[in-house]
Amino acid sequence: MNDRDLPEPLRLAAFAALDRAYAPYSRFRVGAALLASDGRIVAGCNVENASYGAAICAERAALAAAVVQGITSFQCALIVTDTDSPTPPCGICRQVLAEFAPALEIVATTLHGRSERWSLAELLPHAFTSESLEPR
Ligand code: THU
Repeated sequence: MNDRDLPEPLRLAAFAALDRAYAPYSRFRVGAALLASDGRIVAGCNVENASYGAAICAERAALAAAVVQGITSFQCALIVTDTDSPTPPCGICRQVLAEFAPALEIVATTLHGRSERWSLAELLPHAFTSESLEPR
């Protein structure tokens, strides 16, 4: 899915999530919106904490919000940041997204309209999965 082909509600959800980001420590606001396989949209923002390591990324916040609604299958994730260049998801988020959507398409865009896209498989080759847990 090209940036221009993204459904407008997905874009609106990701941008609205960025507005709600709670990032008083890093000042790095992130909005993410997941497009489920059935077309539903769930958003998340990063939520930081005075105990810095307790911060949760926007992508994982969106995923957790989706799972609690019973949504566990996704086609696309849109990530929005207020940066010069689009930012791919961090390593932990790649792993967490891979649990539910190994073939996820990821689009990152900036507030100024620059965007980039990757497949999750491209960003996280040789992912550790439930199959990796199978005993010998
Ligand atoms: N952050 C995200 O929300 N997603 C990422 O993939 C990378 C980092 C957040 C976490 C923290 O609140 C801030 O960005 C700076 O790392």
